[in-house]
Amino acid sequence: MSIRTTISLIKCDVGSLAGHHIVPQPLFKIAERNLQKASEDGLINSYYVFNVGDDLELLMVHTKGETNPEIHKLAWDTFKEAANKALELKLYGAGQDLLKTAFSGNIRGIGPGVAEMEIEERGSDPIVVFGADKTSAGAFNFPLFRIFADPMNTAGLVIDPNMAGGFKFEVMDTVKNKKVVLKCPEEMYELIALIGTVQRYMISRVWRARDNLICASGSVTRLSQIAGKYVGKDDPVMIVRAQHGLPAVGEILAPFMHSYLVEGWMRGSHWGPIMPVGLKDSKCTLFDGPPRMVALGLQVTNGEIAKDDEGKPMMADLFDDPAFELARREALENAAMLRRMGEFEPARLGPDEMEYTTIGQILEKLRERFKPA
Ligand code: F6R
Ligand code: MG
Ligand code: MG
Repeated sequence: MSIRTTISLIKCDVGSLAGHHIVPQPLFKIAERNLQKASEDGLINSYYVFNVGDDLELLMVHTKGETNPEIHKLAWDTFKEAANKALELKLYGAGQDLLKTAFSGNIRGIGPGVAEMEIEERGSDPIVVFGADKTSAGAFNFPLFRIFADPMNTAGLVIDPNMAGGFKFEVMDTVKNKKVVLKCPEEMYELIALIGTVQRYMISRVWRARDNLICASGSVTRLSQIAGKYVGKDDPVMIVRAQHGLPAVGEILAPFMHSYLVEGWMRGSHWGPIMPVGLKDSKCTLFDGPPRMVALGLQVTNGEIAKDDEGKPMMADLFDDPAFELARREALENAAMLRRMGEFEPARLGPDEMEYTTIGQILEKLRERFKPA
């Protein structure tokens, strides 16, 4: 009998140590304790708590399906408790991403970021989960395109007959809150036309075209549209499935050989180079960045994360590798180039995006002083 397993990756900035830098230990401990209890109670089967910069990330594997109210409540209660602790310690930005006070069954749309994927377990199911800080879900558009549509990145698109039919991409229009599905290779140009606009169109799901097998699922939100004002970037998470008729783990990681530019960074208002890092370097420093990305590999096994002899989930810290030194060096070189430009575009985001930041208040202050030219 096939097993249906759900991977839920839910994250939230609940407050951090020294500005928007890292999630400190007392908050980690709350998350560990709550998820440990939930696994003892049988609500979840496995979990792993980590941080990407100032975001607390809860990876949970269970059999309750996507958008399950109990799973979402577990995450919400955990974030609430951690935010209260952050408040007590006067940590920075306590409860930053908890935009609503009440929880009504679904954590989506009330602040935290959610990526979920229910899968029918294959003979072996390798998964890569990604998290990024100081950027938005549009940061995944470029690598997702390369992984699932670019034969110059993914050799399997050319070599593996199981991938011959291509992949389908669900793209969200985050301004109009609408979505469209486009199939590659046939609609590749239309897909690029949309997802090249990374600030508006964001890939939320990917399926293998020939059998609709789910391959990727990301968190796509615009916090500013929920809150009605700038409240930080929607630091994104994503789950990608690998191997055996899907892109190999190495093909999923290949786009990160080079750095590329994403929106976010300082005050969510700049273009910045993505820096792939291991967990030990998952912290934003320089100009509140550069935007960091973490990739963790795991195997889903009979409804849980495959465990070691001590019963601990086995996690591979994929960017903790000299193979990504080049990207990290490029990120720093590009960071230096962009910062030399200070607050001049294109180092700073364009006016549309700036509207959602505090610059709106500056324009308001000057409104009366603008005279006909
Ligand atoms: C970006 C981010 C930081 C802050 C910046 C100013 O997502 O979180 O870059 O925007 O540190 O923060 P405040 O306004 O809280 O002083
Ligand atoms: Mg923060
Ligand atoms: Mg963050």
